[in-house]
Amino acid sequence: MFEIICGTNRVSSRSLEICNLLKARYEKLGEQAQVMDLRDIEMSAMDSAPYTDQRPDSLLKAVERVNKARGLIVVCPEYNGSYPGILKYFIDHWQYPQSYESRPVCFVGLGGSFGGLRPVEHLQGVVGYRNAFIFPERVFLSNIWSVLKDGVITDETMEQLLQQQVEGFCRFVKGLESQELDANTRLSKAEA
Ligand SMILES: Cc1cc2nc3c(=O)[nH]c(=O)nc-3n(C[C@H](O)[C@H](O)[C@H](O)COP(=O)(O)O)c2cc1C
Repeated sequence: MFEIICGTNRVSSRSLEICNLLKARYEKLGEQAQVMDLRDIEMSAMDSAPYTDQRPDSLLKAVERVNKARGLIVVCPEYNGSYPGILKYFIDHWQYPQSYESRPVCFVGLGGSFGGLRPVEHLQGVVGYRNAFIFPERVFLSNIWSVLKDGVITDETMEQLLQQQVEGFCRFVKGLESQELDANTRLSKAEA
C-alpha cells in the first residue's frame, strides 16, 4: 500500500485535494494507495497523552499504516516558512526504526512563489536523519491558489512533473523491493 499523507489538518485543504488527485494516479498504474487525513487522527488537543501509553487508537492505527507502507508520499504545504506543526507532532509519534528506516519517501510541496521548497527540505532533513530512502524527484506546486482549480492542476508543466513523479516513485520502490533493500523486507527478515 502507498500511503499519501496530507501534511495539514486545515479544513478545505488544497494539500488534501492534491492527495486525492495522486491517489487516482497511483491506482491507474495498478498500485494500491490510500490518503491519510490528519483530521482523522485524535491528537488535536496537543496534550501529553499521545506521548504516553495512553495513545489514542486512531493515532496507533495511523502509525501502523506508516510502518507497513510500501512507500510514503508526503504532500506538504508551506506554513510560515516550514511545514505545519501538526505534521511534526504526528511524525514525533512514529516509531524508530520501523516507521523510517529504509522506507521509501517522496515529496510534493505546495505554497506561494517557492512551491513548498522550504517545508519539503525541512522534512527531508527529518526523514533523512532517520535513514529513510528519499526519492530525489520532488515536485513543487507554486502559487497553488492559481494552479489548482476544482481539484485539477491547470499548469501543464506541473501536471507532467506530478505524473513523472508518480511513475518514477513506483519504479524506485519496486527497484528497492527487488533488491530487498526496502523497509518492509528488512522488517520481515528481522522478525523471521
Ligand atoms: C498558517 C499558514 C501559513 C502560511 N505560510 C506560508 C508561507 O510561509 N509561505 C507560503 O508560500 N505560503 C504560506 N501559506 C499559504 C499556503 O501554503 C497555501 O495557502 C496552501 O494552500 C496551504 O495548504 P493547505 O490548503 O493544504 O492548507 C500559509 C498558509 C497558512 C494557512
